[in-house]
Amino acid sequence: LPTEHLQIIEAHELLAKFYNHLLVNTNEGAQALEYLFKRGFTKESIQKFQVGYSLPEWDFSMKFLEKRGFSHDLMEKAGLLGVREKDGTYFDRFRNRLMFPLKDSKGKIIAFSARALTKDDQPKYLNTPETVLFNKSSLLYNFYEARSQIRKQGFALLFEGFADVISADSAGVKNGVAVMGTALTENHVKQLKRLADSVMLCFDSDAAGEGAAYRAGMLLVSHGISVSAAILPEGLDPDDYIRNYGSEKFRADVIGNPLTWTAFQLLHYRRGKNLRNEGEKLEYIEKAMITISELENAVERDLYIRQLSEEFSLSLDALLEQQQQVNITRKNNQPPLLKHQDIQPTAPKPA
Ligand code: CTP
Ligand code: MN
Ligand code: MN
Ligand code: MN
Ligand code: MN
Repeated sequence: LPTEHLQIIEAHELLAKFYNHLLVNTNEGAQALEYLFKRGFTKESIQKFQVGYSLPEWDFSMKFLEKRGFSHDLMEKAGLLGVREKDGTYFDRFRNRLMFPLKDSKGKIIAFSARALTKDDQPKYLNTPETVLFNKSSLLYNFYEARSQIRKQGFALLFEGFADVISADSAGVKNGVAVMGTALTENHVKQLKRLADSVMLCFDSDAAGEGAAYRAGMLLVSHGISVSAAILPEGLDPDDYIRNYGSEKFRADVIGNPLTWTAFQLLHYRRGKNLRNEGEKLEYIEKAMITISELENAVERDLYIRQLSEEFSLSLDALLEQQQQVNITRKNNQPPLLKHQDIQPTAPKPA
């Protein structure tokens, strides 16, 4: 590694230790520590993930590193300092925040994500900007630590946020990694694919999280990775769930009971649709049929077609005919079209 890179890593390693000390051992850090305990962080998880606290001062980290021989220029390149426009002077980027060290795939600290302690302090998370060592959209949080567990268990658990990774880890789930609030990228996929051919998505249960999970799943599947999706009650993220329902229930009911990728896609297509409205219902059935028709496994196709037929009281014949049409349309490379008269409701089932 070039000297500059080594110095950037060294600066981060020293600061992470110092921030952790401030959090755990000093009066200045007491409030931040209290916040973490209230959220369910344990002493063990704080140490394992080297969580820390940065003081509410404009030059404390800068002075700390100065004393240890680092130049302002290097600190700025490391993303640790901001520059005042009016006079070009430097200031600490991270102040009065919880400090979460971010490691590269070799376990070296190369950046920080800093969480605000109150709602008024925006943004909620302040991250190191792009540097020679840190690229937000290629970093997977906890990748270095989770690597062997992902290999061993044969799949990676993919979360949206690193609070989820830390909570899951405390709950005994050690194969979790997180994107840093960005979309999953080709680069992420490459890293995961080296370790396992299967990924379980466990994103926040809100519209944004479900959309992100859908896009992540699509990308993973297109790279030949098999995907499943763990589902949480509406409005919760994995960290919330563990705090509310406990570790055992998280492992058994959430991680232990994921949806198949097909079932997740069907769930996603229904979101926001009123299935009592005929037009929206037909739209959903059309999308569902396209997804189902793409399945390579005939038994799986049969399973989901039967589910659809039962749920909407549609004849199997009509759905199978529709499936053939979808296949023909796909061969001709035209957008599929579903006409109303293609699907005839069967007589309602007797109660
Ligand atoms: N994120 C970010 N900047 C923000 C908000 C979010 O970088 N202003 C990233 C963080 O990496 C965060 C992830 O997006 O972990 C998911 O965002 P969100 O679900 O809002 O945060 P949580 O992980 O749930 O954090 P918390 O529980 O502390 O609210
Ligand atoms: Mn979210
Ligand atoms: Mn979240
Ligand atoms: Mn949130
Ligand atoms: Mn959260």
